[in-house]
Amino acid sequence: MDSKICKIFFFYKRLLRNMNYSRFLTAVSMARRPSPIRILTELQQRSPPSLISLAGGAPNPNTFPFHSATIQMKNGETVLFDETMMKRALQYSGSSGIPELVSWMKLLQMRLHDPPTAAYSPERGQMELCVTTGSQEGLCKVFEMLVSPGDNVLLDAPTYSGTLAAVQPLGCNIINVPSDQYGMIPDALRDILARWDPADEQKPGSSVPRVLYTIPNGGNPTGASMTAERKQKVYELAQNYDFLIIEDDPYYFLQFQKPWAPTFLSMDVDGRVIRTDSFSKILSSGLRIGFVTGPKPLVDRLVLHIQASTMHTSTFTQLMVSQLLQVWGQEGFLKHIDSVVEFYRAQRDAMLSSADKWLKDVAEWHAPAAGMFLWIKLKGIKDTQKLIMEKALEKEVLLVPGGVFQIHSSEACPYVRAAFSLSTPQQIDEAFKRLSTLIKEAL
Ligand SMILES: Cc1ncc(COP(=O)(O)O)c(C=O)c1O
Repeated sequence: MDSKICKIFFFYKRLLRNMNYSRFLTAVSMARRPSPIRILTELQQRSPPSLISLAGGAPNPNTFPFHSATIQMKNGETVLFDETMMKRALQYSGSSGIPELVSWMKLLQMRLHDPPTAAYSPERGQMELCVTTGSQEGLCKVFEMLVSPGDNVLLDAPTYSGTLAAVQPLGCNIINVPSDQYGMIPDALRDILARWDPADEQKPGSSVPRVLYTIPNGGNPTGASMTAERKQKVYELAQNYDFLIIEDDPYYFLQFQKPWAPTFLSMDVDGRVIRTDSFSKILSSGLRIGFVTGPKPLVDRLVLHIQASTMHTSTFTQLMVSQLLQVWGQEGFLKHIDSVVEFYRAQRDAMLSSADKWLKDVAEWHAPAAGMFLWIKLKGIKDTQKLIMEKALEKEVLLVPGGVFQIHSSEACPYVRAAFSLSTPQQIDEAFKRLSTLIKEAL
C-alpha cells in the first residue's frame, strides 16, 4: 500500500473502532444502578405543567422562607428570581444538571471543540455533558469510575494536588510521564508504554494503563501548556494502547494567545476523551459550577454516582449562571472571557517583570501561556519545603513549596508556585524582593 492509501486505511479503521467502555469501569462504578426516584424527577422535569404527580418526595417550596431575589450585575443588568423561578431554584432538580444549562454548554462545546463524537450514536460514545459541583467533583468521580486498586495510571507530575488527593487513595500505581514547559512529552510516554505490547490491552488482568490524566493549559502548578502536535501524538498512543484521556482543563479560558489550542476533545474520533471544564476561574469559584464532557456511556455512569451522592449541583447556582448565559449568549460570554484574560495577562506580565527584576540571579522560570501560576526553580536550593514553611513566613512572603505537587510529596523539590491571580503588581514586586533576600540568605 502506498503511504496515502495506508493513512486513509488507518483513518477509517480508527473511525470504525468501537470502544468497549465496560473494560474501563471499576467494580464500584459497574455496580451502580439508576435511582428510581431520580428517574421520576427527571421525567417530571420534562413533562407539561398539567401533569399531576404524586410520585416525588420533594418538599413543598411554599414552606421555604425565601421569596424572590434580584442579583445586580456589574454592568447594570439584573438576574431576576421571581417567585416561580425562586421556587424552582429552591427545589431538587435532575442529576445531570438543569436542561437549559446542559444545552447551553453543549452548544458551547460544539462551537469551541467541534467534537467528532457529537454525531455518533450513544453506544458508540456520543458526546454527552453533565454539570458537576466544580470540576473537582467531576474529576474525583471520574477517577472513582475508572481507577481500581493496582491499576497503572499515567500523569505528568508535578500536578494539581487536588488530583493527587483524588487518585492516590484509590491504591493505584501512578506512573509519572516526563514533561516540560510544553506539557507531557510524547516520546517519553512512548518509552514508558514500550514495556507493554498494545495487544495485551484486551487480555484479562492486563496491566496496560487504561487512564492518562493531564492538565493541557496553564498547568497547575507548572503553568505549562501542551502544543497541538503533542496532543495529537499522545492521542495516537492512546489509540494504540486503548487508554482513556482525562483532559482537566480549568485554565482553557485563560489562554493568553489566540487562536486557543485545539483540545483533546476536538481530536476525539474514538470517544476516549473525558474533559472537565470549570467556571471557577471565569465566573465564580464559590458558585461551584463545572462540567464533564465525554462519551455518553461514561458520563451516564458518572451521573449515577451523582444521583447517589450530591444528587445534583445546587439548582439555585445553576439557574443563576444559566440566566446570565441566556442573556449574554455565546458572544457575551466570550467577550467576558476576553476581559478576564486581559486582566490575567497584565498580572502575568507584572509578575514576569518583577521576577526579572529580583530573581534573575537566584531562580529560573518559563513564561506561562495560560493560567495563573508561575513555577519557579530556586537555584542552589535542594528543597523549598523548609524554606517556605519556616523562613518565608518570617520574611512575610508566602508561596507553595513545589513538593506538594509531586507524587511523593516528601521528595526534595527545588520549585515554588507563585500565583499572579490575587495580589497587586506592587504586592507581587515586594513579595519577589522578599523572596530574593530569603534565597540569598539561604545559600
Ligand atoms: C488543574 C485543576 N483542576 C481542577 C481544579 C478544581 O477546580 P473547580 O472544582 O473549582 O472547578 C483546579 C482548581 O484549582 C485545578 O487547578
